[in-house]
Amino acid sequence: MKVAVLGCGTIGRGVVDILLNGVKGMKLAKILDKKEKFVPELIEYYTDNVDDIMLDESIDTVVETMGGRGFSYTCVRRALELGKNVVTANKELIAYHLKELSDLADEKGVYLLYEASVGGGIPFIKTLSNLSQINRSKSIIGILNGTTNYILTKMQKDGLSYDEALKGAQKLGFAEANPTADVEGHDMVRKIAIISMLAFKQEISVDDIYTFGITKVSKKFIDIVNNNGYTLKFVCFTNRTSCGIELGVEPVLFKNDAVFANINYETNFVKFDMDPNDALTFIGKGAGRLPTATAIVSDLTVIRDKGQKMFFNNIKKRHVGFEDKIVDAYVEKDGEVKLLQGVKSGEIRGGSYDFYAMIYKD
Ligand code: HSE
Repeated sequence: MKVAVLGCGTIGRGVVDILLNGVKGMKLAKILDKKEKFVPELIEYYTDNVDDIMLDESIDTVVETMGGRGFSYTCVRRALELGKNVVTANKELIAYHLKELSDLADEKGVYLLYEASVGGGIPFIKTLSNLSQINRSKSIIGILNGTTNYILTKMQKDGLSYDEALKGAQKLGFAEANPTADVEGHDMVRKIAIISMLAFKQEISVDDIYTFGITKVSKKFIDIVNNNGYTLKFVCFTNRTSCGIELGVEPVLFKNDAVFANINYETNFVKFDMDPNDALTFIGKGAGRLPTATAIVSDLTVIRDKGQKMFFNNIKKRHVGFEDKIVDAYVEKDGEVKLLQGVKSGEIRGGSYDFYAMIYKD
C-alpha cells in the first residue's frame, strides 16, 4: 500500500512520522506541501505539484490533512475519481460533502474514511456508522471541542481569564488556525453534523445548525453559576423530537457532580442514546497531533486489511428545527446575571442575551 499525504501541518506531520517509524504493509510515497514549508529531513518525499501524486498509479491511498473546502475538496474528488482510497481528518469537508463524496467512493469501489474528523483519537465514527444500521437513534450530546473545553475548565477550575485560557489552548496546538471556529461553535457544528448524519441517516445542512458561542462568557456569570452548584460546558446535541430532529451547539449547565461537569481540559466526551443499544459513551483525547494522526493511521490499516467500509444511508427526510421546551436558564444582559425558571427554550435562544446557559435535564 503506497500512501501520499496532502498537507504536512500539525496532523499531517504526525501521520508522516508514524508511517516513517514503520507500519506493516504501508509505505509513505509522497508529501504534498508548499515549497516554503519543506523541511530537510523529508526532502526525498516532497512535491508541490499534486499531479505527481494523482497521476502516479502506484499510489493507491491519499491522506488529506490540508483542511478547508477549496483545494482539499478538489483533491479528494479527483483522488476518488481516479480510484484512490481517501482518508481525511477534514471535518469541514466531510460535514458539507458527506453524501456526494460517499456516493463517489461507493461508485468507484474505494474507501472514504474519516475517523479523525470527529473526536480526534477517540475511535467512534466507524462504530457509529455500523451501529446506526441496526439501531434507532434517539439523542446525541457531546463535548467535542478540546479548545473550548480547555478554556472553560481553565476559567472555572484555575481562575484564568478567557484570553489567558484561549492563549493556552493555542499554545498547546488544539485550536483551529482561526480559533473563531472553536469559540463560536462552528467546529462543533461540523462535528455534530457528521455524527448526526450517520446516526439519523439523513443529510443535514451545516449552515442551518444553530450555534451560540462562548466569547461573551463573563467571570461574573461563571462565579454565579459555580456558586449555585453548576458547571458551565459548551456542548453539541441532537434530539429526536415529535416532528423530526433538533440540533445545535450552545453553552449548557450541568450539576457539579454530573459526568459532563467532570470532563475537563481538552478531553472530549460523547453520549449516544439509541435503541436497542441504549446509552453508549466515548471519552478520550479529541484533539492534538498524535491522537488525531493515530486515528488516520487506524483508517489506513482498515484499507490495508480490506476491512469495513463506511456507510452513509441518506434515507430519511425529517424536519430539522427546535421543539419549544420548558427550561430553567441563567442569562446575562448588560452585566446583570439572573436565573429564569419555567421559560420557553425559544425565548432564551431568541432573547438577545449577552450570554445564556440552560440547565441540563436528563
Ligand atoms: N480545534 C479542534 C478542537 C481540533 O479544539 O477540538 C480537533 O478537532
